[in-house]
Amino acid sequence: MKFIIKELDSSMVGDIHRIDNESDIDSKLVLCLEDNRLSYTTIGVPHRTKRFPHDEYEYTSYPDDPEKTAFLAYVDEQVAGEIILRKNWNRFALVEWIGVDRRFRRMGIGRALISRGLQWAKDNNLPGIMLETQDNNVGACRFYESCGFVLRGFDTGLYGGANQYKEEIALFWYLMLDSAAGPV
Ligand SMILES: CC(C)(COP(=O)(O)OP(=O)(O)OC[C@H]1O[C@@H](n2cnc3c(N)ncnc32)[C@H](O)[C@@H]1OP(=O)(O)O)[C@@H](O)C(=O)NCCC(=O)NCCS
Repeated sequence: MKFIIKELDSSMVGDIHRIDNESDIDSKLVLCLEDNRLSYTTIGVPHRTKRFPHDEYEYTSYPDDPEKTAFLAYVDEQVAGEIILRKNWNRFALVEWIGVDRRFRRMGIGRALISRGLQWAKDNNLPGIMLETQDNNVGACRFYESCGFVLRGFDTGLYGGANQYKEEIALFWYLMLDSAAGPV
């Protein structure tokens, strides 16, 4: 399936968060820390669908803000995927959100969005990309790994006050520009 990716401009702001925002949960990570390096296995959990709450943020400032950007993927005229990024305090490009509509997953759109994000980091002289996901989003973890991200941190407390998410463990993934050989 053919898709195109465009950087956000003011005419596209209304296209943000039009995609489906669900993920199938059927396993979770079991972390192992050895010599300060993280690895993981997975264990099965009862199947459920997790819906990521879309923020109510107004993205109208993004096109004119050099600290922030977004790229949207389109199939024909339909929004198929999105990545939203900003420069973080530590100079990494922080992925605030990435998602591909369920109808268009496993077609390379997510990887292409990461690749555009990485190019944005390069154009802005940033060292790489970082993002946070959760231990029960195994599909996303496999995806990040396949794009070259390395799992470098976890936080068992981040979601502690977040009611329905309070059992979740935050995972921090990094992709360094100097380790990304060509397009991811
Ligand atoms: C994670 C997500 C963005 C991946 O997007 P995508 O367009 O399906 O990813 P791609 O097609 O580019 O996948 C590239 C590779 O990543 C890996 N991958 C992607 N999704 C995977 C999954 N669910 N399970 C295992 N590996 C996966 C595969 O190696 C894949 O290559 P292959 O299809 O040739 O085997 C998409 O599944 C999604 O939107 N999920 C719901 C929202 C979400 O969880 N967002 C992340 C929040 S932190």
